[in-house]
Amino acid sequence: MNEYVFGKTLNKIIHGGDYNPEQWLDWPDVLQKDIEYMKEAGINEATLGVFSWAMYEPGEGEFHLDWLAQIIDNLYKNGIHTILATPSGARPVWLDNKYPEVMRVDANGNRNRHGGRHNHCMSSEKYREKVRIIDGKLAETVGNHPGLIMWHISNEFGGECFCDKCKTKFREYLRERFHNSIDELNHEWWTTFWSARYTDFEEIDPPYNNGQTAVMGLNLEWKRFTSRNYSDFLSVEIDAIKEHSGNAKVPITTNFMGRYYGIDYRVLAKKLDAISWDSYPAFHNDHESYQDTMMTAAFDNAVMRGMKKDKPFLLMESAPGLVNWMPFNKLKRPGVHEQFAVQTIACGSDSVQYFQMRKSRGAAEQFHGAVIDHIGTNDTRVFKEVKKTGETIRKLAEVEGSLKNNEVAIIFEWDNWWAIDGAGAFGRSTKKYDSTCRDYWVKLMEFGVEADVISTSDELNDYKLIIIPMLFMLKDNIAGKLVEFVKKGGIVLITYISGYVNENCLCYQGGFPGDGLHELLGVISEEIDTLYPSDKNGIRITYKGMDTVLEVKDYAEILRVNDAQILGTYTEDFYKDTAAITCKNYGNGKAYYQAARCSADDLSDLIRILLEEAGICIKDIPAGIEYHKRIGKNATYEFYLNLSTNSIELSNIDGINLMTGEHISGSMSLGSRGYLVLKD
Ligand code: GAL
Repeated sequence: MNEYVFGKTLNKIIHGGDYNPEQWLDWPDVLQKDIEYMKEAGINEATLGVFSWAMYEPGEGEFHLDWLAQIIDNLYKNGIHTILATPSGARPVWLDNKYPEVMRVDANGNRNRHGGRHNHCMSSEKYREKVRIIDGKLAETVGNHPGLIMWHISNEFGGECFCDKCKTKFREYLRERFHNSIDELNHEWWTTFWSARYTDFEEIDPPYNNGQTAVMGLNLEWKRFTSRNYSDFLSVEIDAIKEHSGNAKVPITTNFMGRYYGIDYRVLAKKLDAISWDSYPAFHNDHESYQDTMMTAAFDNAVMRGMKKDKPFLLMESAPGLVNWMPFNKLKRPGVHEQFAVQTIACGSDSVQYFQMRKSRGAAEQFHGAVIDHIGTNDTRVFKEVKKTGETIRKLAEVEGSLKNNEVAIIFEWDNWWAIDGAGAFGRSTKKYDSTCRDYWVKLMEFGVEADVISTSDELNDYKLIIIPMLFMLKDNIAGKLVEFVKKGGIVLITYISGYVNENCLCYQGGFPGDGLHELLGVISEEIDTLYPSDKNGIRITYKGMDTVLEVKDYAEILRVNDAQILGTYTEDFYKDTAAITCKNYGNGKAYYQAARCSADDLSDLIRILLEEAGICIKDIPAGIEYHKRIGKNATYEFYLNLSTNSIELSNIDGINLMTGEHISGSMSLGSRGYLVLKD
């Protein structure tokens, strides 16, 4: 068993969230009630200080941190640990007025004014200096407090800055990336096209809205640079905390936002002790089922968990009730909150945390759900649901620290996503890279198989089966790594729109998928047809006694088959009867190619073939049940969640029901939105 996220066992699953006592310092009775209610609801953690800079430092160099120390003390005395945020997510007014360069410049070159939050330039030396000072003060004041279990850097990093300082740093970054050679950059960005050649790095601007946005390599490097700049900024905060914490070794995280598009989180993850993230599924919306919403939440957990799969992750924020920022702010239906909490733990989280403990009386989030509402009592529906969830979480304490041992991986990469979206090709609205990865992940879950979500730079040999949807950008050495994986006996599925470009968005010559990958697969993709939503096609699979037609949507590649076996052929159009799904035996393994997008519902047959080939145990999961497993030092924990509106019969179950302590063997009926956690 690997080290737990906190480096030690807390003997609990964290149940807590953002708490803003600084808004209520003049109301001691409110603060008193907060503690009382938190304890009643089984809250064992509070995340403090997320946006408290103006309270810590009301004027430049004037620090007031006593209140924070008192709050942490008081929480600790009441059995509530603290996760302390650094306040860099929102700046005091005086800071912006005195040093306007700390504010962000937008893609049109206009500097923002003070307002809102998350509006800072990550490159600004002044901002970094001020952040170092306040973080240092926090670490000196409370960094050694026994109640402090984790640092939480800033809040939800996001957005871009196009100021001159960022532009200069971008140019430095490009010099390093292209070995100080403008010729190399011109070659890799293919700038002879449309006369885009640069004669010097100093001529290169970020992709301003009204500037150069037609060079794929430039757009891509700007995004990579932005991720790196966030990572640099993260280091400034981490270093400041460590420098001022004495001997305290408190782990450090920052809260991610799932599949947030703008940052390659893997770059930041390397610097963190634990992954944490904020999950706000759009429950009960009008365009998908509850089951789909839950499965998307589960997939996002897997994306987050995959960045440090040797540790549990934390759910840093979720809504105990409703949110206030969606187009329609629907109430979470009874029982949903508890099932969502158990799902999160099932996915590998060691916490269920909220935004927010108490509703703020005024300002932008005054109507956002909270554990304690404006009514101020402990008998609200939401409070009672949180309290019940707290009891459940307490009963799941022994799950803490347990991990996963998945045999399947799905590749998902941010810069591949940006490259696909940036390509002037395919269908404008149907690229859907990230949701395509989600669809494979969800399909596997129907067979009781949970997959890790990883990148091509991760270890591949931990897996029996790797599914690689739309790997448009095939980076250096990855084709070779995949060849080795298959040679040793691994099974891969690679899909349409894979291996078209290298890491600088230059097309591979000599046939897609490039860099020798087509030799592993035994096929070359010669053309790709983009389908209108009204276009119809199918893939007939006649393999292993099957005779079935999968519906084709959005994309269909036309293949040249060299030395692969054809498992499926197109049913329509001028490429009717040509190969659409192939397989090539290679070394001890097999390389499958899926040349067209199939409707998600139709993927089952293909997935079954892959799982059987890889020798992965298929579990008979009734429709409507979500199943997960966590593996602890001394026990395995199985989670069954009923996402349907009916009761579902579970059969062949055996173990101790962690909610009741009873041994169950045989079958049982699980009610709608119910769950079962079994210890084997
Ligand atoms: C999060 C943010 C919180 C709060 C919450 C509301 O994205 O980190 O501070 O604004 O949303 O749902």
